[in-house]
Amino acid sequence: MTHRILILGGTTEARQLAGKLARRKDFSVTLSLAGRTESPVAQGVPVRVGGFGGAEGLAVYLSEEHVHLLIDATHPYAARMSANAAEAAQQTGVPIIALRRPGWEPVAGDRWTFVDGVAEAAKALGMAPRRVLLAIGRQEAGAFEAAPQHHYLIRSVDPVEPKLAVPDAVNLLARGPFPEADERALLEKHGIDAVVSKNSGGDATYGKLAAARALGIEVIIVRRPPLPDVPSAETVDQLAAKVDHLFDPVAERGV
Ligand SMILES: NC(=O)c1ccc[n+]([C@@H]2O[C@H](COP(=O)([O-])OP(=O)(O)OC[C@H]3O[C@@H](n4cnc5c(N)ncnc54)[C@H](OP(=O)(O)O)[C@@H]3O)[C@@H](O)[C@H]2O)c1
Repeated sequence: MTHRILILGGTTEARQLAGKLARRKDFSVTLSLAGRTESPVAQGVPVRVGGFGGAEGLAVYLSEEHVHLLIDATHPYAARMSANAAEAAQQTGVPIIALRRPGWEPVAGDRWTFVDGVAEAAKALGMAPRRVLLAIGRQEAGAFEAAPQHHYLIRSVDPVEPKLAVPDAVNLLARGPFPEADERALLEKHGIDAVVSKNSGGDATYGKLAAARALGIEVIIVRRPPLPDVPSAETVDQLAAKVDHLFDPVAERGV
């Protein structure tokens, strides 16, 4: 029997997981992307692109496509998609497993200020003009128009459009991973004195935090949004092992 697996992606781990699972001949893997990135990296497995139309739309998709397993491997800040995935899984009875990479924790020397969203991050920068690396992606950069006194270096995969309506903003287009040495050079070159970051976790984008620590720079960390309580794994390998177990021929016979 072929097991049909839908992976909700948009992350490096989702792509890695898809590649890993696709090696099994009895798995048919489809990766779903929101379609936000203009030129996404090649995924190596069949891809579908675009929203499903809420939890209802995803439930219809799961039924029509006879999906046996739903994997939520979206970014930890894609809270709506994760909520929809949990709801659609419940509606249809399709099992769900989420890939939840652990968040970062501060270590000695870090100067982190935690905030609950980008609006709060903009306030936390304070009144006095600062030179800020905005490393939160382009979708929510607009919140910083509320603090136009700062200089912004906005790093994103695709351009921020429309441009940020502040007097002093530069858009740097780049895709991670970002090693610490490069991040340090970037912070120094631009005279950055504050970094705004999500708590994405993982190694690929940790370099800016290590570099900020080394340079004594404050980091405003936007806390993770609440995510639904579903079975989860922390790494690609752990999740792949759970999938193997779920579709183990012995487990399937219920022995
Ligand atoms: N937010 C971030 O910081 C961040 C960072 C890196 C990568 N990403 C990736 O970028 C994508 C969009 O993130 P977001 O923050 O906009 O998510 P979101 O706010 O949770 O999702 C908004 C809507 O976009 C659609 N969508 C999101 N992910 C999808 C997927 N993998 N496949 C199909 N439709 C999807 C869904 O539309 P419908 O309701 O119509 O189904 C969803 O309701 C995700 O795939 C995420 O993994 C996000």
